[in-house]
Amino acid sequence: MSIILGLESSCDETAAALVCQDRRVLAHKVAGQEAAHRPYGGVVPEIAARAHAEVLTPLIEAVFAEAGLKLKDVDAIAATAGPGLIGGVMVGLVTGKALAHAADKPLIAVNHLEGHALSPRLTAPELAFPYLLLLVSGGHCQLLRVEGVGQYRRLATTIDDAAGEAFDKTAKMLGLGFPGGPAVERAAMLGDAKAVPLPRPLMGSAEPHFSFAGLKSAVMRAQQSGQYRTEDIAASFSAAVVDCLVDRTARALTPSEGVTALVVAGGVAANQGVRGALSALAESHGLPFIAPPLWLCTDNAAMIGWAGAERFALGLTDGMDVPARPRWPL
Ligand code: KG4
Ligand code: ZN
Repeated sequence: MSIILGLESSCDETAAALVCQDRRVLAHKVAGQEAAHRPYGGVVPEIAARAHAEVLTPLIEAVFAEAGLKLKDVDAIAATAGPGLIGGVMVGLVTGKALAHAADKPLIAVNHLEGHALSPRLTAPELAFPYLLLLVSGGHCQLLRVEGVGQYRRLATTIDDAAGEAFDKTAKMLGLGFPGGPAVERAAMLGDAKAVPLPRPLMGSAEPHFSFAGLKSAVMRAQQSGQYRTEDIAASFSAAVVDCLVDRTARALTPSEGVTALVVAGGVAANQGVRGALSALAESHGLPFIAPPLWLCTDNAAMIGWAGAERFALGLTDGMDVPARPRWPL
């Protein structure tokens, strides 16, 4: 049974994990950098890269210690090679290359988006291809038809901001702090989702894509008007995002797509409102709804190790010359 070491460092989480081909996560650790970025209200690339360089090696040592394993016991090393903040991606990929070289193990360069896209299969063994995936994170908002490992058909993407970005910017405007998604979700629980009239960009449109820029501007105007409670703006904003996500996903759920399940992944998939609404949508289409546990939604290395395991099983490994890529569409 193959064991894969997974490494993740593409944004502001440093993570290492040991994942088994039979879906056991032998150990996984994530170190966030919220405190370092909080004074700036967003992720500062240079600070992120330095922090990854400081904590990645101790994290790798910690997962080996927890699993009672040594580098010689792993079968391959999977590291995120993009897309993401290039300084951070290079820290993880170069570390992966060094370990692979030192222990003479195969290297697997994982696309971070593929990590999210395959993550639901780590905890839902029954999830078979093809499935419709809503990938909603800080950097991406896409609908993908996941046809197999390495086989992704993009049905829709955002024409401006990602959904997570909209949460983060809304949090900043409302003074709710950083990181934004969980803060907006907490405030929204105390608010009235009908209190603030906000637009639902592209809702009902024949084109497949997402848009959140107009919603963000409307949140800013509502905030500046001084007419509304912060909690009500947060709740109304969250409801608008959920409506947009559900509307666009419903549009893609045509019977001709012939999918086995509706699946959500990425940081915004941790949002209970998003999960609940998508679950209802799947049910109305007679489809199973699969969402990874919360710890697997936000950035982590178990999903990178798992994508590595899926690729390794198919013989998909990479050479030492594989580049770190700031942009890398699936
Ligand atoms: O997948 P992820 O950890 O990193 C990227 O690959 O981007 O996603 C991070 C994004 C952030 O924008 C964060 O605000 C959002 O996911 N997020 C949430 C929640 N938890 C994280 N958004 C809404 N509700 C949440 N509970
Ligand atoms: Zn991510």
